[in-house]
Amino acid sequence: MFTIIVKENTQEMAQAAFEVIKGVLDKKPNAVLGLATGSSPIGLYKKMIEDHKLTGRSYKDVVTFNLDEYVRLDRNHSQSYYTFMKEHLFDHIDIDLNNVHIPDGNAADFDAEVRRYEAELSKFHVDVQVMGIGSNGHIGFNEPGTPFTATTHIEALKESTRNDNARFFASIDDVPTHAVTMGIASIMKAKKILLLASTSYKAKAIAAMIHGPVTENCPASVLQSHPDVIVITDKAAASLLADEGH
Ligand code: F6R
Repeated sequence: MFTIIVKENTQEMAQAAFEVIKGVLDKKPNAVLGLATGSSPIGLYKKMIEDHKLTGRSYKDVVTFNLDEYVRLDRNHSQSYYTFMKEHLFDHIDIDLNNVHIPDGNAADFDAEVRRYEAELSKFHVDVQVMGIGSNGHIGFNEPGTPFTATTHIEALKESTRNDNARFFASIDDVPTHAVTMGIASIMKAKKILLLASTSYKAKAIAAMIHGPVTENCPASVLQSHPDVIVITDKAAASLLADEGH
């Protein structure tokens, strides 16, 4: 079931997203948070940091699981998702890094790594999974065509995804070709999903997720069968929704 919240701008989106996270943390200071990287959650992470500094809210008992990590990018590379999470959130709150889980993009044995990550994840129940959406409808790095039954696995990134992410690298050739990602089945186990999307570039994907057929061609469409999905967008990303503006 979708709850759709359309905001004027990314500032207001971040505030609305923070209210959701705050609601979870107020009830459960040892919540399990599923986290994402990319542009979409940056404003939310800023609000979480502000709140931590202002109110002293502690993250020491919070457990986190990230959706994904690039394959064969050193953990300390400026564009690794490990570095992203440290820079945008973990370095600024009192989280215990022992409670942080991010797939190892440099594992010696990826079969073992995907099993290890899924096994670790299955010891917990994610209270809220934060995520963005790809312009092609991907969630995590589950690209179109990924089976809904997939658990954590290695995914070959589509050229469109590599192009979308090329803005963070010196050239398209530097964008990794593969990622380790939680699977769709892993993601669907979260109690609540908080999906953020802005700009008209995401409008088609948002409309397909909400109104389109449930199909592996649009991975996010699987969320139609999740009981609790909060979608926060700006007006541009919501512009192709049937009831936008009502
Ligand atoms: C990132 C992730 C991706 C992004 C998506 C949107 O951890 O799993 O699915 O959420 O590619 O990226 P942005 O937010 O940069 O538009």
